Amino acid sequence: MRGSRPAALCAIQIDHRGMADERDNWKKLAADSAVTQVTSGMIVGLGTGSTAEFVLLALARRIREGLRITGVATSEHTVARAGELGIPLTGLNGPIDIAIDGADEVTRGALHLIKGRGGALTREKIVAQAASRFLVVVDQTKMVDVLGTAPVPVEVVPFGWQATARRIEILGAKRQRRDFVTDNGNYILDCAFGLIDTPGSLAETLDHVAGVVEHGLFIGMSTEVHVGTSAGVKILKA
Ligand code: A5P
Repeated sequence: MRGSRPAALCAIQIDHRGMADERDNWKKLAADSAVTQVTSGMIVGLGTGSTAEFVLLALARRIREGLRITGVATSEHTVARAGELGIPLTGLNGPIDIAIDGADEVTRGALHLIKGRGGALTREKIVAQAASRFLVVVDQTKMVDVLGTAPVPVEVVPFGWQATARRIEILGAKRQRRDFVTDNGNYILDCAFGLIDTPGSLAETLDHVAGVVEHGLFIGMSTEVHVGTSAGVKILKA
């Protein structure tokens, strides 16, 4: 019948929505769990992305109940959301007590991360590095044994970006430039390296490519990871 969708397609779409709802529940569980670690007087690093959004909502709820904190945002998007939710902000002028952010992949053992699908990886890494504790919030689908199913986002300066991209290709990546300019005025190259057996040495190599501002490999930075799962929250500590 014209205008109506085949029953099979409807079922698939309902399944996808159901999966998205379930993942949102896991993200919320992880976010709520991490936010219990925040206490009054703290300077809190505020992440970017759909899981970090649940952190902002949980913080806003606790602020309405009397929690006093000041946030440091990792993106202009998060600045705007914090404003809408009544979360007071400051710049990155000193140490951060706790930063809470999402991730694209987390390794089960070492808690290494790939971050940056939202394009905010440089500010996210600066904030995570400034924090005494860096809490990662993810749903169970983000946990991996080896990084690299997701591409590694790499922020590069626009000047000569093709030359920078070629250097990264020589390292073994297939790269795609996003149609996107970061909050810092740069480009993002999504770099697919395949499975990354030695993420620490790849991170160091990328650190030395001229034109690379920052990359999404967060090595040895996570203090703990709150994983929302079908069986509740699991907290993994470094
Ligand atoms: C933003 O730049 C990213 O680092 C996100 O934190 C990461 O991509 C996870 O995003 P989601 O929580 O939306 O999956």
